[in-house]
Amino acid sequence: MPQRIYLDHAATGPVDPRVFEAMRPWLSERFGNAAAVHRRGQEARAALEAARAQVAALIGAGDPADLIFTSGGTEANQLALVGLSRPGGAVVTSAVEHASVLEAARALASLGRVHRQLPVTSLALVPKEAVDEAGVGPGDLVSVMLVQNEVGSIEPVRAIADAAHRRGALVHTDAVQAAGSWPVDVAELGVDALSLSAHKFGGPQGVGALWIRPGAPFAPLFAGGAHERGRRPGTVPVALAVGMGEAARLARIELPERAFRLSRLRDRLLREVRSRVRGVELNGPEPPERSPGNLNLSFEGIAAGILLVRLDLEGVEASAGAACASGSTDVSHVLRAMGLPPGRAQSALRFTVGTTTRPRDIDEAARRIRRAVAGIREGRGVAREA
Ligand SMILES: Cc1ncc(COP(=O)(O)O)c(C=O)c1O
Repeated sequence: MPQRIYLDHAATGPVDPRVFEAMRPWLSERFGNAAAVHRRGQEARAALEAARAQVAALIGAGDPADLIFTSGGTEANQLALVGLSRPGGAVVTSAVEHASVLEAARALASLGRVHRQLPVTSLALVPKEAVDEAGVGPGDLVSVMLVQNEVGSIEPVRAIADAAHRRGALVHTDAVQAAGSWPVDVAELGVDALSLSAHKFGGPQGVGALWIRPGAPFAPLFAGGAHERGRRPGTVPVALAVGMGEAARLARIELPERAFRLSRLRDRLLREVRSRVRGVELNGPEPPERSPGNLNLSFEGIAAGILLVRLDLEGVEASAGAACASGSTDVSHVLRAMGLPPGRAQSALRFTVGTTTRPRDIDEAARRIRRAVAGIREGRGVAREA
């Protein structure tokens, strides 16, 4: 049985063994509730606050108290959109945000708030003048992600934030796909709020964080306790927070090395696939102008869903840019917003490398991709051809 090759690190990745070790005691003998007054609780509290400081350091946040732990990126985005938008103001998102931002904006729109979308270029980039052209005004909330999760574009968040601030709006960025492989600094980005998710950078699933600039008018979504200074009631999962803290500490120290390594692997995969397979097109920006770990490729004449299943049989785990699970021809909102021709959008797959990907995995993946594509194009079955 050939080894499986995991190229879906943007979806999630393994917990770093060092993170797992850091979490272990907090899952067993050190099980305290960080809100309790006794010693066990106080120890948990200290661990929680140390983790908060580590996550704050990853994003250059001066005061860790401005950061609240959440159940992940989805909740952080939800809290940001609901908590920072105002009744009279519009919610302005890019057209290529993650569903957790877009659907939150749509939910707010169904309650009467205005939702406006900023268009993107064919590389999924928000044009710098988009904020002015959208007529953003005081009381509005603008949400534009830092790294696009499907095609790896790096959005001009600083320029967008400056333009939005000049017009009196608040700015949130979803940095879920950036942390760990791209620099994230709240002061440099100039934003009012920023979302993170631990499982995208070597931490556990089920924990994330929202940083809110001090003084930004944030209204909590949940009621029911003084946890996280009343901004996110509920017992904080100490072990998960400790895991996120350790993952953040490692990501900060290792960022240059990781970004370099991932981009080399990405470039190698692109080169290998292009040299072995005809009719391949890259969606999103050419490297190095894209997220270090991300490739999104269209395979001429092949439905993404069919290739995805065929690759799985070949032992390569990737993901589709098109909503193809049910064989539908729906195209992802990201590829549609980029204006890709339908055929190209329907044949798009995402390959994302991570810290555990090895160069030899890339070469083997390219061989298997070639075999899968050739098998489909030649109408062969999945029997093991050489
Ligand atoms: C850009 C982006 N934002 C938000 C999320 C949601 O994060 P989580 O899985 O922690 O809810 C994801 C996850 O895929 C993402 O890629």
